[in-house]
Amino acid sequence: MAESQEHEPDGPGEVGPTGGVGPTEWVFGDPVGVGPWPGEWPEGARYDPELLAGGDRRNVVDAYRYWSRAAVVADLDERRHDFHVAIENFQHDHNIGTVVRTANAFAARAVHIVGRKRWNRRGAMVTDRYQHVHHHPTVESLVDYAATEGLAVVGVDNTPGSVPVETATLPRRCVLLFGQEGPGLTDEARAGADLLVSIAQFGSTRSINAGVAAGIVMHAWIRAHADLSRAW
Ligand SMILES: C[S@@+](CC[C@H](N)C(=O)[O-])C[C@H]1O[C@@H](n2cnc3c(N)ncnc32)[C@H](O)[C@@H]1O
Repeated sequence: MAESQEHEPDGPGEVGPTGGVGPTEWVFGDPVGVGPWPGEWPEGARYDPELLAGGDRRNVVDAYRYWSRAAVVADLDERRHDFHVAIENFQHDHNIGTVVRTANAFAARAVHIVGRKRWNRRGAMVTDRYQHVHHHPTVESLVDYAATEGLAVVGVDNTPGSVPVETATLPRRCVLLFGQEGPGLTDEARAGADLLVSIAQFGSTRSINAGVAAGIVMHAWIRAHADLSRAW
């Protein structure tokens, strides 16, 4: 059964549930974001009085400036796509932060961490605060979740049996499942997948970084299924 993960601050710059300064917002020179709201404050429950008063330095698109975190998440929930992202974490994979950040950028429905619950949030650049992140102790529990939700499991690795993602049709409702640096997808993950896809390579390296692979395959889903008129 999936379990929601609460954000555990682990960086010196992370403060407060409504935003504040996080790793991407460390300031070197001119501060990023916007200062206090000039003039009369706008009305509406979306606005966060602390941000209006103090300015909004968070890593959010301009459309969400001065909005509370809850309001941003609620709006994203209306915009999220039909793909989920999952990554195996049996050895503390250091790519997970990158995967979470990219999943946020492409509005993945949710991210699933399979295996160990703890992961290094630094690469997520605080984007996990706006993302639904679930934990599954085993591949089996992820596969059960996918079956319950009517999601196809798409295993991503360049192993025998994979078809090129460049020519495959990715299902609209799916979980894109990535392996770890070193071992790649576990046997359980490959056995549980409805479809296995690989990314075509042309150089000498056996594989690319899992975070990069995740970005490529998420974007393949976007190219196939997203409504580009809704992009920022
Ligand atoms: C660094 S790879 C390791 C495993 C790889 N199969 C090997 O033989 O070295 C870690 C993960 O990145 C993703 N990945 C890396 N290169 C890939 C490729 N060319 N096609 C599909 N997935 C890839 C997969 O999810 C994989 O499990």
